[in-house]
Amino acid sequence: MSVSWTTLQDSPDNIPPVRTSTVRYGLNKDSLIDKVTSPTTSMRTLTEDLSTYDYCGNVWETREMNSVTLTDLPSDTDVYYTVEPVGAPGSDDVSPVYMFHTMPEVPPSEIHFLATADMGDQDTHDWASINEMVRESEQCNNPNSTTIPITLGLMIGDISYNLDLPPSGDNFMADMAPMTQNYPWQYGPGNHEADCNYTYANYRGRFAAQNLTAAKHGENSGSSRWYSFDHGPMHAIIIDTDAWGFDEVAYILEDQYNWLVQDLEAVDRDVTPFIVLLGHRPMYCSSVTGQQGSHLGYPKQMDGWEGKISEPLNYGEGFRNLGLKPPDFEQRRTLQHDDNDDDLACGVSDLIRNGMISEVDGSRKYGIEPLMEKYEIDVYLTGHEHNYERTYPVLNGEFTKSYDSPKKPVHVVIGSGGAYGTDEFGSAGPWDAFRSTEWSYTDIVMNMTHFHLTQKLATNSTIIDEFVLRK
Ligand SMILES: [Fe+2]
Repeated sequence: MSVSWTTLQDSPDNIPPVRTSTVRYGLNKDSLIDKVTSPTTSMRTLTEDLSTYDYCGNVWETREMNSVTLTDLPSDTDVYYTVEPVGAPGSDDVSPVYMFHTMPEVPPSEIHFLATADMGDQDTHDWASINEMVRESEQCNNPNSTTIPITLGLMIGDISYNLDLPPSGDNFMADMAPMTQNYPWQYGPGNHEADCNYTYANYRGRFAAQNLTAAKHGENSGSSRWYSFDHGPMHAIIIDTDAWGFDEVAYILEDQYNWLVQDLEAVDRDVTPFIVLLGHRPMYCSSVTGQQGSHLGYPKQMDGWEGKISEPLNYGEGFRNLGLKPPDFEQRRTLQHDDNDDDLACGVSDLIRNGMISEVDGSRKYGIEPLMEKYEIDVYLTGHEHNYERTYPVLNGEFTKSYDSPKKPVHVVIGSGGAYGTDEFGSAGPWDAFRSTEWSYTDIVMNMTHFHLTQKLATNSTIIDEFVLRK
């Protein structure tokens, strides 16, 4: 188990001295007899400034990043712990005592976890799903509860709006702490994690340890932006879908794709019968706003914040350097899902599904849908669009209405976690099974044969949709 936390600096301009991050732990709440330490690292990042055309301000902030990994813990056991330092240099502040429960020796055949995407902090996003997810976690993880404990959370990008826009990032992490203190949350990057300068520095700094949970059978990706892990009957894979949308990020396409193929090759379906892929940008969606140029991300140059955003100078150079045709800047005429229906563009969905287009011969590279077919990926959880949208099992546009051994993945947009505004839907796709613009989060229970997804309102956990995918 890795425990990570951030220490804010009193003086943001000062680079903090390297200190020691300490986790004290034990099996008795009143006797934390063991201790593990690691050196702190410093994260100095540029804060975002929405008043400038390139989004980068001139204010630097410095944080002390703490991450300590505990090994050789007894299985299926409550472990109590504290962390330090939690204060600025010179402070001796120690956290309260927290607790997590370790996994059993044999992976559980049934698991319960939460998932969401596109969610802000509670101060600036009143509708964020955090309170309900905290409440549900406490309810299910109460020792007297008869429900399956929640042992994992998944957040698929666009975290806090934004991690580099203070104080949202720190507020968000503090809001999540009632859950993250007790069980792991794994994150994936979205376009808002690029930071103002495409360094992903806040994302990488805050979640550096998460890919240490790499799946047993594949190779560790070495990146917290694309990685995998096994949890009970699930092999979960996180990918960075900005690679298909930002020319600044295109450079990861090949490394990420090659890693993904070897990871899929190594999955043992007897151990993890379900493969769940998670990426921020959807492959099937019907949001009207999914077509807009604003969803391309931060332009390198604009000719005016209020006016029309024109194509920046040198737009697409990252893709062209790889011999690939860049996405259409406005994403309106980019390879429609169906040439007869412009409503179904869904951002760069076609490029993610079928691959980038070679400038040399028009062939497609780095497409995900062929991998979904070959390796029988079961579910794609995604976000970016601020709504909830579930498809029937669908592959290459062909769908079946049965969820019983469909041999096609179900795509679920769960970007309804609580962003700054909802994205409205256009015409429904033929593969659409359910759509909602209400703020909501995702609750999943699965075993070796069943994947049961329940979508619950952010306000009171009323169920608005559910389906069971059977093996
Ligand atoms: Fe997004």
